[in-house]
Amino acid sequence: MSLPITRRLPWAYVLIVTLLAVSGTMQMPIASRYRIVAVPGLAWLGDFWLTHKLHYLGAIALLTLVSYLATRWLLEWRRDHALTPFGLARVALLAGLILTGAVRVLKNLPGVSFSPDPIMLVDWAHLGLAFGLGVLALARRFAKASYVCKR
Ligand code: HEM
Repeated sequence: MSLPITRRLPWAYVLIVTLLAVSGTMQMPIASRYRIVAVPGLAWLGDFWLTHKLHYLGAIALLTLVSYLATRWLLEWRRDHALTPFGLARVALLAGLILTGAVRVLKNLPGVSFSPDPIMLVDWAHLGLAFGLGVLALARRFAKASYVCKR
C-alpha cells in the first residue's frame, strides 16, 4: 500500500538520502585514508569542503521534501492512511537526524561553542541514526512490508 503520490517523490527521497549518506560519510574523513580518492572519478570525495557543502545542500533538499510530505500528510492523507511500525520508525529516525543535524550545523557556526561531552553524544547519535535508517530500509525490503497502510 502506498500513498497517492507520483513515483518522482520516492525517487527524490532515495537520491537525497544517498547524497546525504555519501557526503556525510566523507566528512569523517575516510576517502583519503582508505584510498577511495585513488579510484578513477572519485577523487572529488577527498575534497572535504565540497562534500561538506553537498551535505548542507542535501539537508536543505531533505527539509524541503519532509516539509511538503508532512503538510500533505496532516491536511489530506492521514484521514485515509496510517503509518505502519516501519513508517513510524522511519519518521522517528528522520526526525532524530534532522534534530541532531541542526545541532551540528549550530556547532559549526562561528562564535558558537558547546561543551565537549554532550556534543560528542550528538555527533554519535547523528551517525547512529544514519546507520539505523540504512538498516531499516534493508529490513523493510526483506520483510516486504510497507511504510503506510489504509485505515
Ligand atoms: C538521511 C539523512 C542524513 C544522513 C544519512 C546523514 C549522515 C551523516 C554522516 C554519516 C555524517 C558524518 C558523521 C560523523 O562525522 O560522525 C554527518 C555529518 C553531519 N551532518 Fe548529516 N546526515 C543526514 C541528515 C542531516 C541533516 C538533515 C543535517 C542538517 C540539518 C545534517 C547535518 C550534518 C552536519 C552539520 C554534519 C557534520 C559535518 C561536519 O561539520 O563535519 N545531516 N551526516
